[in-house]
Amino acid sequence: MKPYLLLFSLLGLLFGACQPSAATETETTALSQPVSGGDSLTALLFQSQCLICHGVGDRSHEELLAPPIEAVKRRYQFLYPERDSFIAEMTRFTLNPTAEEARMYGAVSRFKLMPKLAFQEAHVRQISAYIFDEEMEKPGWFEAHFLEQHPDGIPDPGPAGP
Ligand code: HEC
Repeated sequence: MKPYLLLFSLLGLLFGACQPSAATETETTALSQPVSGGDSLTALLFQSQCLICHGVGDRSHEELLAPPIEAVKRRYQFLYPERDSFIAEMTRFTLNPTAEEARMYGAVSRFKLMPKLAFQEAHVRQISAYIFDEEMEKPGWFEAHFLEQHPDGIPDPGPAGP
């Protein structure tokens, strides 16, 4: 993501937090409703809380801070093709990352375990649904690299293979 976009997202969050307008209240209420991914608040949360590390933007493969979110999505969709279990498992890990629960072994050894951050569960559930439902950004080099790493099509099969 471009830096100005990020700044814009963060400003948007701050602004939203300081100005409890009717619109903000509606959106907050929506977060406690059963999950439906694609509202604009979720997109903003996703950008500011996840893409800050999982975003690719102009970064080359060597400059990444974390696996691209598309790679995370493929791994989780491979393991949990059902939307509900995808959301549940992604939320579980994101709220409390542990090496035992990690499913992206290559990423853990390259980037170290994802840090435990102060996310709200309702937000993470919304974001996980958003990741499942929406198209994620893919850098130009992504598909070629993915094929090279996973010639059998299985995303990150782990130390003992698929
Ligand atoms: C401070 C940087 C950082 C932020 C912010 C971050 N992540 Fe991560 N995340 C990582 C790194 C590094 C990894 C790769 C290591 C690992 O798998 O634990 C990772 C891995 C993951 C994985 C795969 C875990 C596995 O191995 O099974 C999921 C799912 C994930 N992140 C979800 C999220 C979501 C959702 C958000 C936003 C709510 C988020 N992350 C925010 C750094 C971050």
